[in-house]
Amino acid sequence: MKKAKILVTGGTGYIGSHTVVELDAAGYEVVVVDNFSNSTPEVIDNIESITGKKITFLELDCADKDHMRLLFAKHPDISAAIHFAAYKAVGESVDKPVEYYHNNLSSLLCLLSEMTAGGRRGSVVFSSSCTVYGQPKAEHLPVSESAPLQPATSPYGKTKQMCEDILTDASAAMKGALKVISLRYFNPVGAHPSAKIGELPRGVPQNLLPFVTQTAIGLREQLSVFGNDYNTPDGSCIRDYIYVCDLAKAHVKAVDRMLERADEMEGDIEYFNLGTGRGLSVLEIVNMFEKATGVKVNYRIAPRRAGDVEQVWADPARANKVLGWKADTPLEDVLRSAWEWEKKIRS
Ligand code: UD1
Repeated sequence: MKKAKILVTGGTGYIGSHTVVELDAAGYEVVVVDNFSNSTPEVIDNIESITGKKITFLELDCADKDHMRLLFAKHPDISAAIHFAAYKAVGESVDKPVEYYHNNLSSLLCLLSEMTAGGRRGSVVFSSSCTVYGQPKAEHLPVSESAPLQPATSPYGKTKQMCEDILTDASAAMKGALKVISLRYFNPVGAHPSAKIGELPRGVPQNLLPFVTQTAIGLREQLSVFGNDYNTPDGSCIRDYIYVCDLAKAHVKAVDRMLERADEMEGDIEYFNLGTGRGLSVLEIVNMFEKATGVKVNYRIAPRRAGDVEQVWADPARANKVLGWKADTPLEDVLRSAWEWEKKIRS
């Protein structure tokens, strides 16, 4: 049976591309849109080479109302949207706040107004972040969805909070006609087992794992471990690293829930923390990467990075129970997938 048509904004990005593959595998019809602000058209070919199917793709800017109007005119039968399209670099957002607020807020607003135009029903899965929790107090670790939210420390983080607020208000106003699931990601890592899609950072990577793999392959001389004087067992920061393919599957579960079991939803908007439940330090990741791949990573201890939280990892119990989803890929395999991807893109 052919399932519903799902819009994926930012569908050629890192998490978006993996999600398109999983939606296709689950039998959904997918419409991908992207403006390639942080991806390339080759990603579409690579997705098609994994799925063995032609992908419906439109190059457009979600922050442009006219573009979004045309999209919904062409595909009025879109049943749900997964909204990834957004800028995501914390440091860059501090330097370019106007661009971040404009892009990340406008793209959501344009999506919402077009999706629900004329009283049409809408369902949105929103790509949120654990950054909304800031540094949780010790008693709130691991972090569940009931942990208090804290003011974000960067414009990027604020856009995630503001978008969640917009979705809360919009779904309340639409009295059941707009369903929302906000997925708060911890640290997505790794690449598809085919090594055909993965993370493609532009310039110097800001995130840990791309820096590790680029150092391992010799593209960067040395990884800086930002701080070894935190109040953690080895002094480096702790995060919850989740495999991007596991994360992608959670989006399929969220869409299933909104389209097939909306009556089970606890209100018009739901939140889920997507992590493994296991916190690992930067040094543990480096060691594990070396063991999993047999490749040495040249690193040094550097000063703390401004704005970093000390430690945060997820309590995924709610996602496990309610979405019926679990991140269960062993991290060694995940680190190897990141390494295979790095080797592939440099070959
Ligand atoms: C942060 C946000 C996350 C957001 C992401 C976007 C938090 C808790 N997390 O992730 O919500 O989606 O940015 O990019 O606010 N590190 C090094 N050396 C490096 C790079 C990183 O030691 O060269 C360390 C960092 O200090 C950190 C860990 O590795 O402790 C992970 O860093 P990163 O991959 O940048 O992700 P977060 O900062 O956790």
